[in-house]
Amino acid sequence: MDKIMDTSSLQQDMRVVFAGHVDHGKSTVIGRLLMDYGSLPEGKLEQIREKCRKTARPFEYAFLLDALKEEQSQGITIDSARCFFKTKNKNYILIDAPGHTEFIKNMVSGASRADAAVLVIDAVEGVRDNSKRHGVYLSLLGIEQVCILINKMDLVGYKKERFDEITEEYIEFLQGTSLKPQSFIPISGFYGDNIVNYSEHMEWYDGKTLLETLETLKGEEKTLEKPFRMPIQDIYKFTKDGDQRRIIAGTVDSGTLNIGDQLIFYPSEKKSRLKSIECFGKEKINQVTVGYATGFTLEEQLFLQRGEIAIKLGEQPPFVGRHIKTRLFWLGKQSLMEGKKYLFKIGTTKIDVKVEKILSIMDASNIEILAKNENKVERHEIAECILTLDKEIAFDTADLFPSAGRFVIVENYNISGGGIILENIKNYSETLEMPLFTQSGKVSYEERCGQLGQQGIVLWFTGLSGAGKSTIAIELERQLMNQGKLSFRLDGDNIRDGLNSDLGFSLIDRDENIRRVSETAKLFKESGMITLVSFISPLRSMREKAKNIIGELGFVEVYVKASFETCLARDTKGLYSKAMEGKIKNFTGVSSPYEEPDCPDLILDTEKNDIRECVEQVLFYLEKHFKI
Ligand code: ADX
Repeated sequence: MDKIMDTSSLQQDMRVVFAGHVDHGKSTVIGRLLMDYGSLPEGKLEQIREKCRKTARPFEYAFLLDALKEEQSQGITIDSARCFFKTKNKNYILIDAPGHTEFIKNMVSGASRADAAVLVIDAVEGVRDNSKRHGVYLSLLGIEQVCILINKMDLVGYKKERFDEITEEYIEFLQGTSLKPQSFIPISGFYGDNIVNYSEHMEWYDGKTLLETLETLKGEEKTLEKPFRMPIQDIYKFTKDGDQRRIIAGTVDSGTLNIGDQLIFYPSEKKSRLKSIECFGKEKINQVTVGYATGFTLEEQLFLQRGEIAIKLGEQPPFVGRHIKTRLFWLGKQSLMEGKKYLFKIGTTKIDVKVEKILSIMDASNIEILAKNENKVERHEIAECILTLDKEIAFDTADLFPSAGRFVIVENYNISGGGIILENIKNYSETLEMPLFTQSGKVSYEERCGQLGQQGIVLWFTGLSGAGKSTIAIELERQLMNQGKLSFRLDGDNIRDGLNSDLGFSLIDRDENIRRVSETAKLFKESGMITLVSFISPLRSMREKAKNIIGELGFVEVYVKASFETCLARDTKGLYSKAMEGKIKNFTGVSSPYEEPDCPDLILDTEKNDIRECVEQVLFYLEKHFKI
């Protein structure tokens, strides 16, 4: 039974996460805080300074923390990621992690109950991507109390302007998140300005020091006002000497519970009254409250399971469901895949989860939506997803219970992601299309492609009149249609008679013809269409222009090759003979030039291959190079 421990003395614990870009000075701030508050063992600082002098290294507070880590000196304890220190009012647990990924892992696992966060930004370097990312992660984890330190003010001459500049930039960035910092403090970790003592160098600052700010933040007792929640960790059965007790063990997440209170457990909805609170080796108590790791017995013997949540009857119940809308960030080396199964951990529940639908993806450093309807989430991206749990569980959403709504996703025994539950989705099958209704604003290229199941492509067919461009395009359009792909042909038939009816065949007019066709093809491509453009486009410069207008991505230059002699012999429209007779001016190959492509993406030789073979060649090329 040693797992159950009375932790009532930890009630005033204040867990503070230190975040920020690597060299922005987290360790210095923590070291200085300990020193200026007088928490360091006597002579410790001098000892480290002396060691630095001897090894000709400049002194850094990080060395001090390292030395303390090794010694485990009284008063403060430091382990790899945490540092414990006490003031009159609170027991602080300062949580730090050396790297970016470690920080996140800390945040989502052990440290997920952090009450507050301190984010450090370097005054010289200013706001970096990681400063932004960490801000987004903090907001995602529902950390409500945040204090932003603008560090190294000494290196910018303690200038108010620099402080204002960074503060404004960061506030503007945060507008897109739910993070609302309590304060921005200009500090110098190295010289101790505004850490514990007020700075003499920044009289323009009239706010609190870091320590004063920490002392005003609320610790765990804030969750006292919330309904009672205790996820079941374990059930201990006693069988010895007729002892029939079953002890329900767990840690109280929020609220207070008294003997005699009526309890209801979710999702089973079994009810009973609280009979006793078990305190081993301690005086009997009648009440447990937030932060207690405790065990209790019930008046009736209920069959309960780990992961169920104990609630007081009459208080707001949790949600019970399988389909949840979540916002999560992904840290896994391999992408999070739609349709794939992972292990999902929330509270004391571990359960298999399927990524049902990835609704949207955001870049954590600028909170811009990167894509919708994607089927995977890459490392360091944030996504809104619908997850389907293997079976119904009880849970709270993050808006009501910031810490209870946090979860972790595990892949191959590694924490690979974490996030918050935004919403319980009832009747999932009926609301399958819900994201489409709830989305608003511009429809993106990715969404169109997602809907069509293909990507926007322009196949630019060039070649002499009669080489077979349009014939191939027509048959290709048919074959794509047969395969369920949407394509559209632009050629002399539908362009020269309408949009370009004002243009003839002088090189200037042909150039304008190609420009307009290119602009049109570009729009078609953006709509997700496989666009088949067949125009002689006789000059390299014209095709170059087309490629520039349309964009290289998804542009395929196809040379439909047939010699002048072959085309003359074919003379399908009788135009060559007229041109030879001089009845048609500027005729390509006769009285106007044709420049063969230097380096086309594809050559279709219509002298050697029939139409079917040429079409197959194009289909093969498309399959190989594009998502269609
Ligand atoms: S382009 O040079 O501007 O690309 P485009 O492909 O639109 O030419 O038009 C070529 C078609 O127009 C030919 O297949 C032919 O049927 C017809 N045509 C009429 N006059 C000419 C001409 N002088 N040169 C080439 N093709 C012509």
